[in-house]
Amino acid sequence: MKNEMTLSFVAIEENEALARMAMTCFITPLDPTIEEISEFKTIVSEAVTNAIIHGYECDGKSQVTLHAVIDDNKVSMTISDEGAGIFDIEQAMEPMFTTRPFMERSGMGFTIMESFSDRLSVESVIGRGTVVKFEKTFSPVTETSRMR
Ligand SMILES: Nc1ncnc2c1ncn2[C@@H]1O[C@H](COP(=O)(O)OP(=O)(O)OP(=O)(O)O)[C@@H](O)[C@H]1O
Ligand SMILES: [Mg+2]
Repeated sequence: MKNEMTLSFVAIEENEALARMAMTCFITPLDPTIEEISEFKTIVSEAVTNAIIHGYECDGKSQVTLHAVIDDNKVSMTISDEGAGIFDIEQAMEPMFTTRPFMERSGMGFTIMESFSDRLSVESVIGRGTVVKFEKTFSPVTETSRMR
């Protein structure tokens, strides 16, 4: 199966739930396991939250854009913002690194995204924005899995 979608929304925290639910609906035809759904939703949630909070400081007007492609049982996705950008990507991806400890952030977002995806990459330019790309391959749809 092949499918493709784009979704854009303004940077308010409420739209994290929109993104999570929309993306869960999009991958439903792949008949994912509960664990696969949970992992996929978590990646989307972490990346979108980062774009809203760090990229745009919840400004309520700038756009976060999601683009997703299904190709057989593989999902490729980008989460883009045109916000603040990341000063040092390598450092940002280290476990427990956060620029916002005062907001009770744990600095584990990228670490979680990496562990739940098959491939994750980050491109970012200060003042221009950030693009997070990931791929996740789901277990193939079989007659048995259809009955789950
Ligand atoms: N889209 C983005 N735009 C600008 N900076 C970002 C973006 N995404 C991540 N960052 C930077 O990378 C750091 C690490 O991100 P990460 O998601 O790992 O941790 P966190 O968001 O600080 O905390 P947590 O995700 O655990 O709540 C952030 O603190 C922030 O400085
Ligand atoms: Mg985060």
